[in-house]
Amino acid sequence: MIEIRDLHKSFGPLEVLKGVDLTVEHGQVMVIIGPSGSGKTTLLRCFNLLEIPDKGSLALNTIKLDFTPGAKIPQRTVLSLRQQTGMVFQSYNLFPHMTAIGNVMEGQVTVQKRSKEEARSKALALLDKVGLADKAEVYPHQLSGGQQQRVAIARAMAVEPEVLLFDEPTSALDPELVGEVLKVIKQLAREGMTMVIVTHEMKFAADVADRIILMDNGVILEQGTPQQVLEQTKNPRALQFLNRLSGEE
Ligand SMILES: Nc1ncnc2c1ncn2[C@@H]1O[C@H](COP(=O)(O)OP(=O)(O)OP(=O)(O)O)[C@@H](O)[C@H]1O
Ligand SMILES: [Mg+2]
Repeated sequence: MIEIRDLHKSFGPLEVLKGVDLTVEHGQVMVIIGPSGSGKTTLLRCFNLLEIPDKGSLALNTIKLDFTPGAKIPQRTVLSLRQQTGMVFQSYNLFPHMTAIGNVMEGQVTVQKRSKEEARSKALALLDKVGLADKAEVYPHQLSGGQQQRVAIARAMAVEPEVLLFDEPTSALDPELVGEVLKVIKQLAREGMTMVIVTHEMKFAADVADRIILMDNGVILEQGTPQQVLEQTKNPRALQFLNRLSGEE
């Protein structure tokens, strides 16, 4: 359902993605791990064209894009791709002047042209799903980080994307709030939501992932099931990364 081939991306002289190939099947949870600076965020941002790749191709269902340096992607294509990819950022990025329910209604009204009543009832159902039905009318600053992140997940889901993209959804949270967010993501996984998740939470990764991708220095070092990548890799650099992580625990 998502196919990425030979994806390249540079920032000036710095080549950050050096030919990435990957496939995400419908209903699959793919987790991306790897050292800081290896290109995980950049790769994720290429999925919804927050970064435009220099070379390679990206296909999401019927949308197929070939990238060449300097070529412009039509705005229409960018919008239709974004509509199918809900993004959840590390820092939630909720609209501060809107209530929780306002945040979850916004995209439905502006992008999907739903009526306010329809958007409101859908938003309420989603807030209920992430355990926040009672917080619908409060503003982001009145919510904890974990609650804000759950509103952000509800907001990302509200436009019914094909895939949800998460960039370290718990790394800005106090440790005691991490669990409530991971629980929501695990529930979505059980319901068959297609997701691509960048995370440093290895136990969560092992638990939720159908496939894990280990990136290093702009390439995929290892990919496979959690067991294959986390327990059976023989790649020295992958082992070095994983050993360093387990040393930190
Ligand atoms: N907009 C940008 N302009 C210039 N360089 C950038 C830009 N975005 C990222 N980079 C560089 O690209 C490299 C990869 O960054 P990226 O954010 O993708 O890494 P990451 O794997 O997500 O790291 P982390 O685990 O720390 O989040 C880094 O060297 C970073 O400095
Ligand atoms: Mg990152």
